[in-house]
Amino acid sequence: MENHRRIIIFDTTLRDGEQSPGASMNIAEKLRIATQLEKLGIDVIEAGFPAASQGDFKAVEMIAGALESARIAALCRADHNDITKAWEAIKNAVHPRLHTFIATSDIHMEYKLKMSQEQVIDKAVEAVKYAASLTDDVEFSAEDGSRSQPDFLCRIFEAVIDAGASTVNLPDTVGYAVPDEFSNLVEYVITNTPNINKAVLSVHCHNDLGLATANTLAAIKAGAGQAEVTINGIGERAGNTSLEEVVMSLGTRPNFFHETTAIDTTRIYPTSRLVSMITGIVVQPNRAIVGANAFAHEAGIHQDGVLKNPMTYEIMKPETIGLSKNNLVLGKHSGRHALYSHISGMGYNLSDEEMNIVFEKFKHLADRKKNILDEDIEALINEEILRSAEVFRLEYLNVSCGTAVFPYASVHLKINDRLVKGAVEGNGPIDAVFNIIAKLTCTKSKLLRFSVNALTEGTDAQGEVTVRLFEDGITALGKGSDPDIITASALAYVNGLNRLEYLKENPAELSPVL
Ligand code: KIV
Ligand code: ZN
Repeated sequence: MENHRRIIIFDTTLRDGEQSPGASMNIAEKLRIATQLEKLGIDVIEAGFPAASQGDFKAVEMIAGALESARIAALCRADHNDITKAWEAIKNAVHPRLHTFIATSDIHMEYKLKMSQEQVIDKAVEAVKYAASLTDDVEFSAEDGSRSQPDFLCRIFEAVIDAGASTVNLPDTVGYAVPDEFSNLVEYVITNTPNINKAVLSVHCHNDLGLATANTLAAIKAGAGQAEVTINGIGERAGNTSLEEVVMSLGTRPNFFHETTAIDTTRIYPTSRLVSMITGIVVQPNRAIVGANAFAHEAGIHQDGVLKNPMTYEIMKPETIGLSKNNLVLGKHSGRHALYSHISGMGYNLSDEEMNIVFEKFKHLADRKKNILDEDIEALINEEILRSAEVFRLEYLNVSCGTAVFPYASVHLKINDRLVKGAVEGNGPIDAVFNIIAKLTCTKSKLLRFSVNALTEGTDAQGEVTVRLFEDGITALGKGSDPDIITASALAYVNGLNRLEYLKENPAELSPVL
């Protein structure tokens, strides 16, 4: 693929992705995702929108200070104060990028901005000039670009490139475009923006019609040089273009696409899992590339073909995306060193202290589950290392339930260091467990969502429970996993309550509403 054009991958999981309903991440979680994105080979990581909240500012500042090779972008409106805030957050990055935007469609200019075309151009130019006085890496986005008048788009792009923008982005903000039309628009912009060769043309597509990837690929074919994407396609409303679909389409069809990326595709699957675990947004089983069924062959005729030659029915090898076919790894007799090197191979970089915690929990799990798979280890790391500070801790749980007994749960909890005990009945075992936990913790949260997912195959698989809790205007996600799904539910509930406490103590980390 030597002569292939190199496409810049701009990941906005931490900014547009965080705008997915219910997906909020704390600062430590954002830093963990950013670190993984850098290892994945992302060129530009959009870390957040610093003017949106104090928590966003801090997260962007921390990511900017921690990463080395990726460019770190901060989003800001075409507004002096926004740009100043964004710059404050990223100025210590090795490679900072300011990403400023204003809407350019008639409907947005008339109803939202109440500005004329000339006023919008002036504001955009003023913003880009100011941003360019701070850094030479400035991106300008024409919000609602796909519904903007093509000639106006070319005029504003020409003006902002003259003002110092090195990337101009054409978003399909409302997911309205279709591939042929979008590729024509990209061609039109390339042909009719006189100085376009001084900038990279980017595209940013939303998935309202399920066409985000198709539109992005059509735009790349038509000459776009940067694709804006998110892991698992998360994002505002129906989401954004998914990284895995774009990267694997380019890589799998090199005869059709003469473009390539710097992504280390073997890290796609672990990154997808990490983002799903942290955001609580489950990947649907039939999702392309990263769904649980993406490489599963059910029909006998397919299985037979795959056994004879995998390429009969597999257009990609599972190993290419980091999905090990045989990830049966460790068991009860595996030592600390084996676990350590396996975890490092999975892309995690744990300190000695973190390793000790994970090893202890691993041994405990191995006593109850014969084969420990990658998914089990990921869940352990997620629960033990990514946990926020704990006010509540589950110490003991005993449940009785079945056809002939009334569901009953007895729980011991540590609240800070104080041990409290209690028992109540419920409509079912989980209801009983949640009731007694709520009573002991004197909390009144509402359960918005409860889901159980088997982490691996087999009846001894760990159940992974996700809860979404709501209290006093704050929503928090809780996760727990255990071979016993009632214990997993109790752990998830307690985890959710701890995260609610954390958010009450740290309101700055609440997700911004843009
Ligand atoms: O969808 C959109 O238009 C955006 C811009 C801020 C780039 O997210
Ligand atoms: Zn967007």
